[in-house]
Amino acid sequence: MDQSCDFHDTTSGISMMVHQADAPARLVGEFAIKAGLDTFELCVAVTGLVYNGSYYALVSQIIAVTILMIFTRFAWSGLDLAIEGRTAAQKDMNNYLESIHLWRTVKTFGGIDNEKNGFKKHSKRYVETFRHAQFTEIIISGISSLIADIGQLITMSGLEVQVKEGKLSMSGLYFGVQCSERIKLLTKSYISRLNNLGYQLRNAEKTVGLLNSQPSVKDSPGATALKTHKNKIEFHKVTFKYPQGPTVFRNLSFCWPCGKIIALVGETGSGKSTIGSLLQRLYDPQTGHITIDGQDIRNIKQSSLHEAIGEVPQNVELFPNSVMYNIRYANPSASDDDIYKVCQIAQIHEPITKLERGYQTIVTPNMFSGGEKQRIATARMLAKNAPIWILDEATSAIDNITELKIRQRLKPLMNARGRTTIIIAHRLSTIDCADIIMALRDGEVVEQGTHDELMKLRGHYYNLRSSVTSKLESGI
Ligand SMILES: Nc1ncnc2c1ncn2[C@@H]1O[C@H](COP(=O)(O)OP(=O)(O)O)[C@@H](O)[C@H]1O
Ligand SMILES: [Mg+2]
Repeated sequence: MDQSCDFHDTTSGISMMVHQADAPARLVGEFAIKAGLDTFELCVAVTGLVYNGSYYALVSQIIAVTILMIFTRFAWSGLDLAIEGRTAAQKDMNNYLESIHLWRTVKTFGGIDNEKNGFKKHSKRYVETFRHAQFTEIIISGISSLIADIGQLITMSGLEVQVKEGKLSMSGLYFGVQCSERIKLLTKSYISRLNNLGYQLRNAEKTVGLLNSQPSVKDSPGATALKTHKNKIEFHKVTFKYPQGPTVFRNLSFCWPCGKIIALVGETGSGKSTIGSLLQRLYDPQTGHITIDGQDIRNIKQSSLHEAIGEVPQNVELFPNSVMYNIRYANPSASDDDIYKVCQIAQIHEPITKLERGYQTIVTPNMFSGGEKQRIATARMLAKNAPIWILDEATSAIDNITELKIRQRLKPLMNARGRTTIIIAHRLSTIDCADIIMALRDGEVVEQGTHDELMKLRGHYYNLRSSVTSKLESGI
């Protein structure tokens, strides 16, 4: 959870890794107890052979155990490889099974047969690697048993010679056989447990190493809490490239006046959402810096930065928990009435009350439409009551009339208490309330000013507006 956005962008299967990391901890405990008991029993069996005077049997047992240990030391590395192959195939298979969640897309794009074939291919590989690992394990365990049995046979003949020479009674023979049998079994289980533990520990080492890797975004040693007065946001020569993506900004600089409504417009991919991500320090820019009220956000505690910003993200994510839990997430101390109030502003109160269990309904993946999700996310942002708001395409999936109602209720709040509100929108009617408009193109600010100023310029914003107007007029 402490990791930064780039870690989550590039790492998959975290839940499986965390689950695996827990296994060695359990095994170490189990191993310590069982190994303790086994060692005690082994000492008793060896003492038994010494007491019995069966030195020949003891020596042959020690030789057999040594050979067994050397053999398994090498054989188990082969098994490690086979198990790794099986794990990789299993991971592939799990990733593939994710497409079940995309069932609707698969079905409507006629991809069922394709997916079935893919599934067959992946499951065949998984079964093959599974069989290979199992076969390797059987062979190793077979050869180990053979070595132990040959050792046992030599031990027996040693005991038999002792009986023939009259150096061992029948009860001594029985006792000797029992002791060496115990030694054989204990050694076998000891080696197998040790190897299993070694494998699990090596796996866990990798997982823990990954999970413990330092986040790229972290609080600086002397980080302080953000002090917001006027909520003035500035980017100073910011250059930013996504870890696995394009360079979005090169020396991007701008200054947004305090406590205003700022609209960010521009084509898809021009970097609008990235500005929101950088402002919340989900990523750090490679060069340049960002300030809020003159404070470099790199020197601010991330928790206080996140407290100061409320966002409706472009892609809304909801927890599989109650609707109430999802909205109250922004402000755990909010009362039920507070939540109802923000939901009324976001025009989502009524749809929620119509659900069978109202606010207590558990959210499932397809329960809400895109527009309903956006309204829940708006209510969540309102519940946080932060001094800076980011509305990233917050009403893109909402019909015009509902959007107008939300806008009318939100407008006075956007200006309240010196709040700075950033609206990112494609539908230009959404930004009619903006004090300042900033137009972006390919990560560069091409224009900034009021609506009237930009319209007079007859530049990028004017073209965006005019193209929309002419399309509406020609009925496209
Ligand atoms: N997590 C990411 N990893 C890699 N590239 C990304 C990521 N998010 C966005 N991008 C890329 O960065 C560019 C800017 O994206 P974005 O800020 O989302 O654009 P906008 O919001 O203006 O549509 C796009 O080319 C996009 O594909
Ligand atoms: Mg975007």
